[in-house]
Amino acid sequence: LPPKYFYDERGSELFERITRLPEYYQTRTELRVLRDIAPGVVRRHGVADLVELGSGSSRKTSVLLDAMREARTLRRYVPFDVCPEAVLAAAGRLRGEYPALDLHGVAGDFDHHLGGVPEPDGDGRRLVAFLGGTIGNLEPGARVPFLRSVAGLLGPGDILLVGTDLAGDPARIRRAYDDAEGVTAQFNLNVLRVLNRELDGDFDLDAFAHVALYDPGPPWIEMRLRSTRDQTVRLGALDLEVEFARGEEMRTEISCKFTRPMVEEMYARAGLELVEWHEDPRGWFGVSVARSAA
Ligand code: SAH
Ligand code: TRP
Repeated sequence: LPPKYFYDERGSELFERITRLPEYYQTRTELRVLRDIAPGVVRRHGVADLVELGSGSSRKTSVLLDAMREARTLRRYVPFDVCPEAVLAAAGRLRGEYPALDLHGVAGDFDHHLGGVPEPDGDGRRLVAFLGGTIGNLEPGARVPFLRSVAGLLGPGDILLVGTDLAGDPARIRRAYDDAEGVTAQFNLNVLRVLNRELDGDFDLDAFAHVALYDPGPPWIEMRLRSTRDQTVRLGALDLEVEFARGEEMRTEISCKFTRPMVEEMYARAGLELVEWHEDPRGWFGVSVARSAA
């Protein structure tokens, strides 16, 4: 499923809890990279206008906003997320922290509503951020079209900054999606609650178990839900009945892991070019900067 279906209000809260789990290294690692590079990126590219797609709680974004404030270029921040509660909460917090900021939140779907991003104003440059490795949650065939449409937000001199989880030790990566406390299991199961509500379904959340497996081929993590008994599920709005055998698994989401060449190739196919590549010293998480190819 595309990631948008996981983030209703409850899903967004559960994801916030995931970001604080000891097993979930991604958020901490990306934050560390952003701390290192934000002042340089903002200075080199004269960033005044920050647009963030899938902004969620906007917690890591403060590093970029602080760098813009230091550089005295800070003008506008556009948090864009499919979860309205997340946008409202983030905007409410940031309004207090950055009183001079022109804050323009958008609750929308980045597959359809990028037109809701306000036109750039003034002469500073724009940075479009896509953090958290969310690009890896899109299906392989959806990434390049998505990046092409995002490239439409970039004028001359504007940049795109993307966070990608990197391929590496399968055990460490798998654990990040199967934490001891079971928060990720709740997050995965919550998508059934969304289906029940939105599609008039009757999934019994107690009859499915969370499964995370690392497939080194793509490479990616697959999130699955395993039926714990023989059962039939109805989705009224689709007039659909689905039978599950005990032990049968359905894939709910992927989380792709990247290498630098994979990211470069993805950019090239989307009419972008990589201009900066940064990763943490252990090589666990990558942050790249791209611009429209000439
Ligand atoms: N950027 C944050 C949150 C990452 S979780 C971080 O790095 O921690 C992914 C976020 O993308 C969620 O907040 C989710 O609501 C949002 N999202 C997923 N699909 C979306 C879509 N189609 N349009 C807009 N936002 C989307
Ligand atoms: N962008 C996050 C990631 O791929 C989303 C995520 C974290 C996630 N934990 C998850 C998605 C568990 C599905 C299930 O790392």
